Amino acid sequence: AVTNRFYTYECVQDIVAFIQRLVPTKPEVAIICGSGLGGLADLIVDKIVIPYSEIPHFPKSTVVGHRSNLVFGTLNGLYAVCMQGRFHSYEGYTTAMCAFPVRVMHMLGARSLVVTCAAGGLNKDYSVGDIMLIKDHLNLPSFAGNNPLIGHNDERFGPRFPPVGHAYDRQYIMKMKEIAGKYNLQLREGVYCGLGGPCYETIAEINMLRLLGGDAVGMSTVHEVTLAAHCGFRTLGIALITNKCLSDYNTTYEAVHEDVIRISELKADELQQLIFDFVDVLKNN
Ligand code: 6GU
Repeated sequence: AVTNRFYTYECVQDIVAFIQRLVPTKPEVAIICGSGLGGLADLIVDKIVIPYSEIPHFPKSTVVGHRSNLVFGTLNGLYAVCMQGRFHSYEGYTTAMCAFPVRVMHMLGARSLVVTCAAGGLNKDYSVGDIMLIKDHLNLPSFAGNNPLIGHNDERFGPRFPPVGHAYDRQYIMKMKEIAGKYNLQLREGVYCGLGGPCYETIAEINMLRLLGGDAVGMSTVHEVTLAAHCGFRTLGIALITNKCLSDYNTTYEAVHEDVIRISELKADELQQLIFDFVDVLKNN
């Protein structure tokens, strides 16, 4: 049988005990920052920054455009824990190992999760720079046996067969749309396809993902949201469309990481403002 020896309950407890020695306050909200979006942590005041490299059992994040810190502090009046940099399965980690910081943040006390990511736009109506609220996902690695919950299930985390049909909180989506309305911003709402990467998609794959109902595609998020649903987080998922997925064999444009980073840095302030305002909603819930 598969045993998840790196992410047992005791291992998560170990990490939590380590963190609680450094951070006296319980976080209410957990935030995972996608590529180029780590600047959100700069809005946190009275920060305590813990590099992943100092946390026992933590993997290292190795991607350009991602920092590698767990940042604690107050965001718009609410105590927050923010992952500045996340783990991807293309770095060589299992999806379970990529996502297990979600369990750490839950055990620390957070019950709301905001995940952000850069994504390619599959939906032909989408433009570069659009912000898409994730209403649902396709966890494609899970179809191929790479679900993060594979292996022994410890019921202290959650049930063996967790429902994930409401992994993305409808109320959070409505609240975020209201907030965006105040800035005259139109947000998209769509289905995020999570792939293992690191290759961007072939044209045939882009066509396939569109047929499956995907609106955006990326290399993260789905494994984290799966563990979040398992342990009972209420989750808001936000994908920033950093490039279009083109399905024309005659165009020469292809997605490149530099574009992803450039666009996410360009739009980061806007997205960070939305999350900052969203946190205010959580205070009264
Ligand atoms: Cl086009 N594909 C994938 N898989 N991830 C992305 C992306 C595309 N754009 C940003 N991230």
